[in-house]
Amino acid sequence: MARDAIDPATLASLHGRSLLLTQDWTTPELDALLGLAQRFAALDRAGRPSALLPSQLAYALFFDNSTRTKSAWAGAAARLGMAPVIVDGSSTQVAHGETAAETGAMLGMNAHALGIRHDLILGEGNRFMHEVKAGIDGYLAATGDPRVVPIVNLQCDVDHPTQTLADLLWLREKLGDLRGKKIAVSWAYSPSYAKPLSVPQGLITLLARFGAHVTLAQPEGYRLMEEPMGAAAANAAASGGSFRAVSSMDEAFAGAHAVYPKSWGPWDLMVERVEANRAGDKARMGDIEKRALSRNAGHKDWICDERRMALTADALYLHCLPADIGAEVSPGVMDRFRVEVAREANWKVYVVMALLAAAKVDDLPARLAALDK
Ligand code: CP
Repeated sequence: MARDAIDPATLASLHGRSLLLTQDWTTPELDALLGLAQRFAALDRAGRPSALLPSQLAYALFFDNSTRTKSAWAGAAARLGMAPVIVDGSSTQVAHGETAAETGAMLGMNAHALGIRHDLILGEGNRFMHEVKAGIDGYLAATGDPRVVPIVNLQCDVDHPTQTLADLLWLREKLGDLRGKKIAVSWAYSPSYAKPLSVPQGLITLLARFGAHVTLAQPEGYRLMEEPMGAAAANAAASGGSFRAVSSMDEAFAGAHAVYPKSWGPWDLMVERVEANRAGDKARMGDIEKRALSRNAGHKDWICDERRMALTADALYLHCLPADIGAEVSPGVMDRFRVEVAREANWKVYVVMALLAAAKVDDLPARLAALDK
């Protein structure tokens, strides 16, 4: 993969920056970050160390399960010389009513970077991250502490930026420039759980920035939040790409160069879950989950199988993982792409490294040049 050039001035402008949504960053800023991730990948794959942040604490709070993102956070921190610590969010005093701002101040007091996953409840995760950031920034300002403590969104209700940036790097590695490329982001059947909306929302928003022709497919009753839908349309208009929403998986797959079929929960039940969660009504939450899976089961034919892959232009299959094999994707398609989706996932460690280094390392271009010697 050709390494993208990194504009030093843009890279310098990322010092101190948190990433809460890709939409908050300009396209040149994202390009600088992606170039930096490629640089770290090249160094790592050549066995060269990148310990630019020794003796620093990289703390992460997860309010939901994770395999890949936890390991990417830990792997990135270790490669940078930081000490990674990952905590179950539900084991903190947030569960007893501590506010997000208080939590932020307490964590920011000791940590040098903070990752957060809070993705299950619409309207809550991204807001929580903003409030934690305000708590950290307020504490650092009030105490005259010069540390930079960036927040990295490790998946919220709106976006999953480290995932979609890893996906973008993988797409560029396999397909090159995305301009003119047709990409299908499709709902697919899942019996396992009502999955968050943030991956498809993040994908349509981000990929439309880079000139791709993005088609979103979902059955009736499934939809995404208005803001990312609007951002995807505006980004496509600005980049020379396109964005459309259809209700047929076949239509989205026709002629596609890449397909990203994955499940998400039915809209009305995701909204109902907000109320049940606010009321702390666990029985109702369980009932909503059962109804969501029953609704999903009405669309078992939404599977990425050999017939559908044959409709594409020999498309690359992507998934954020874990995939429901036999439901979202046929065993045969998954077998064909098993190593490919692992390589896709591997980009996340370099995205997190790039975010931490860009936010925290002084004079980063010179420090990077020294790593190459
Ligand atoms: N795709 C993804 O974020 O994986 P995890 O949920 O395992 O972190």
